[in-house]
Amino acid sequence: MTNATAPSPEQVRLIDGKAIAAQLVEQTRQEVEEIAAAHGAAPGLAVVLVGSDPASEVYVGRKIAQCRKAGIRSVEHRLPADTDEGALLALIDEMNADPAIDGILIQLPLPKGIDASLVLDRILPGKDVDGFHPVNVGRLSSGTGGLVPCTPLGIMMLLDTVIADYRGLNVVVIGKSNIVGKPVSMLLLEREATVTVTHIETRNLPDIARQADVIVAAAGAPQLVRGYWVKPGAVVIDVGITRITDPDGRTRLVGDCATNELGHAAAVTPVPGGVGPMTIACLLSNTVRAARMARDA
Ligand code: GUN
Repeated sequence: MTNATAPSPEQVRLIDGKAIAAQLVEQTRQEVEEIAAAHGAAPGLAVVLVGSDPASEVYVGRKIAQCRKAGIRSVEHRLPADTDEGALLALIDEMNADPAIDGILIQLPLPKGIDASLVLDRILPGKDVDGFHPVNVGRLSSGTGGLVPCTPLGIMMLLDTVIADYRGLNVVVIGKSNIVGKPVSMLLLEREATVTVTHIETRNLPDIARQADVIVAAAGAPQLVRGYWVKPGAVVIDVGITRITDPDGRTRLVGDCATNELGHAAAVTPVPGGVGPMTIACLLSNTVRAARMARDA
């Protein structure tokens, strides 16, 4: 447990999420073309933003821009923060019934006063490109198909670039969220990794992390994972993204890991440019999957 020879960031082997995501977007664009040629219309994605959370505005803008790149038709619904829950449910019913809409994404978090689980449960499971509907959650945990949440899917694709066989690997997931921690644990279990899910109440987290062949850091805690938490040769996936202010007043984005201390890791995802672009690319590929399922039905 020493920091005496803290490596420079240049020594850290980075997994280029931006490049891998660009490949997936291109592959998705080709599939969109095939679907459009065969069925006369490209897949359609509806994105709903309620309120004006600044981070959500950025994410929704990026999702729409990537749809355009892949040739997916996108429909954007921007609703005021005081939108009535009933009106949102009625919009979902309308989109559920619209054959031109293959995927529905409700950007989270929703404003206070709207019951997120009521809203997410209203989306037809076949159009639930976020994979948050209980039917899709159940399918994921029983390993029986369904639409899988985008960030965990993207994490697996990044890991697949450096890991061929997960059987018996020790994976420590930091964070037990429904969006990342729990679903990625299910995907890793499917590959027969030994998965430890940790959270805010976990004791001796650095000691547990140090046992890991793979760490998935999804705590939303800036630079939580330090160099001495990581065993030499481990692979580290950094899901966090937080804007911090340095002592000189400048701001920058950091992840859940102190990346510049991870020169001894086998590979690390950068922030930004790691998991984030994969999440959006997987949203596009989920939309194509949903479109295929609808057309084959
Ligand atoms: N907010 C943060 N991450 C996500 C996500 O993956 N999907 C949606 N809909 N909202 C989010």
